[in-house]
Amino acid sequence: MDKINAAELMSAAVKARESAYAPYSGFKVGAALLCDDGSVYTGCNVENASYPCGICAERTAAAKAVSEGRKRFTVCAVTGSSAEKCTPCGICRQFLYEFAPDMTVLCGNKDGEYDEVKLSELLPRGFGASSME
Ligand code: THU
Repeated sequence: MDKINAAELMSAAVKARESAYAPYSGFKVGAALLCDDGSVYTGCNVENASYPCGICAERTAAAKAVSEGRKRFTVCAVTGSSAEKCTPCGICRQFLYEFAPDMTVLCGNKDGEYDEVKLSELLPRGFGASSME
């Protein structure tokens, strides 16, 4: 499978955002995760009346990928439903860091405009398995 480019990955995240279930915050988020074999996993935020039960778009996508045997992530596109470019929350930064500390993150707004950053910039000196050696 040919790898898709950054703009295409962001488009996949924008599309995934359509499925967001966000009746409590009203903030819809979509994510698209590119793996090193070219596969793409998408996700959206899924909220719950018991607020802490909700899950972010990035972790939805990552859990889908890992459960399908893909752990080597290269890029994650994330897009929110506001003019502000959406960056992953702290829990998602840590969740992604477990599998791909060197990955790239595309932080997008409602129109799919995005900034490209490294996960290591978003989570400097992150804690991982090697921290316990
Ligand atoms: N949210 C995400 O899905 N990803 C992020 O990176 C930021 C926050 C969701 C969680 C919640 O459903 C809503 O956005 C408001 O915080």
